[in-house]
Amino acid sequence: MPSGFDQTYYAETARVHTTLRKDEHARRRRQLMKAMGRGAIAILPAAPERQRNGDVHYHYRPDSDFHYLTGFNEPEAVAVLVPGREQAEYILFVRDRDPARETWDGRRAGPEGAVRDFGADDAFPIGDIDDILPGLIERCDRVYYSMGQFPDFDQRVFGWVNGLKGQSKNGIHSPQEFVALDHALHDMRLYKSRAEAAVMRQSARIAVGAHVRAMRVTRPGMTEYQVMAELLHEFHRHGADISYHPIVGGGANGCILHYHENADVLQDGDLLLIDAGCEYGLYASDITRTFPVNGRFTPEQKAVYEVVLDAQVAALAVIGPCRHWNEAHDSAVRTITQGLVRLGLLKGRVPTLVKEEAYKKFYMHRTGHWLGMDVHDVGEYKVGTEWRVLEPGMVMTVEPGIYIPAGTRGVPKRWWNIGVRIEDDVLVTATGNELLTAGLPRTPAEIERVMARRARVAA
Ligand code: GLY
Ligand code: MN
Ligand code: MN
Repeated sequence: MPSGFDQTYYAETARVHTTLRKDEHARRRRQLMKAMGRGAIAILPAAPERQRNGDVHYHYRPDSDFHYLTGFNEPEAVAVLVPGREQAEYILFVRDRDPARETWDGRRAGPEGAVRDFGADDAFPIGDIDDILPGLIERCDRVYYSMGQFPDFDQRVFGWVNGLKGQSKNGIHSPQEFVALDHALHDMRLYKSRAEAAVMRQSARIAVGAHVRAMRVTRPGMTEYQVMAELLHEFHRHGADISYHPIVGGGANGCILHYHENADVLQDGDLLLIDAGCEYGLYASDITRTFPVNGRFTPEQKAVYEVVLDAQVAALAVIGPCRHWNEAHDSAVRTITQGLVRLGLLKGRVPTLVKEEAYKKFYMHRTGHWLGMDVHDVGEYKVGTEWRVLEPGMVMTVEPGIYIPAGTRGVPKRWWNIGVRIEDDVLVTATGNELLTAGLPRTPAEIERVMARRARVAA
């Protein structure tokens, strides 16, 4: 760990940048437009800015669908795709240049920049959209649009379409059909390209560094927010942000699945559960590690930890092409149930306990989710009534856990307040899977070894 300002420490981070090339967005637009076919129009608004309190806004984060197709980072923009339109297939409406506003709020691409730097065939000021967009919609039969995400914008889309319908007496054509844009787009987003996999590898690598850093600094008497500060420092020094608010829960707090206060003092003898990932180039990582605050597992902590680790290994073993989505969960559930029986925390026959879902007393969530631009990424888990079959390019988390809060009925006190989750990120490859979060200590021995080398830092 660095002490104070260190030139090489920061310079090293400048070399690792991996970002998508502009043609990646163009390729996506072409793929979507091919699926839409002629006679269709897609309309995607940028996310609005969100007020935090008073006159303060949250740091702006573009909408994932909008950004996936445009690479454009500003609010108050609308992307329009009209496959086969001769003058321009890809049109962006963006904020006009405004030297005064740009002095206060930052640079704007303006319509010229939208064409020059973002590949739009044509671009207009957002203030002109009411005059221009209905004319584009009029020539189409189908409107591809994601309803319900931005209700204010929904009303404007209805307004444009209804405005055309109202003019049918004048010979104006209006579309007959609304098509759910997210259906086609989210299926595309589920399959990560090589370029996306590279960015996700980098996002995972940064988060791995943050978790190692947390292991190296944690000691009894520190607060949960001080450990969180170490994670945030590691994310930000690599140009990354959080992909969700980190969970940093010591002892009993580790048994609260979405604990977020991160405010308590860490106690000698307790476990610390950290669920934290970063967002790099708008791609999320999502990692959980659980380790002892004092660097040494107690026998009970280690016993529970090893059951969760076995479950993760069992889940990872069935992730690959031709396996279906739920096999990893089934595998983890079976291993956790066996482990809980072995520890005496569940009693009965494993197949019966699995069937009756007895494990849910200790393991009440699922074993993973898709991962991508959103931490709980888009994409269907079932096709019809069948679990989805895994294919190369899909990325998911694998995150089994066991949680034993104080007072759990039928469980002796020595097991109380043990909450363990182990979460890693996995890319399905042609031959199996790639652990994107490789390199992060996972076994009790690896964790204890890293913690034994803890730096001396002031808490
Ligand atoms: N950090 C959210 C999750 O693990 O799903
Ligand atoms: Mn997760
Ligand atoms: Mn997580």
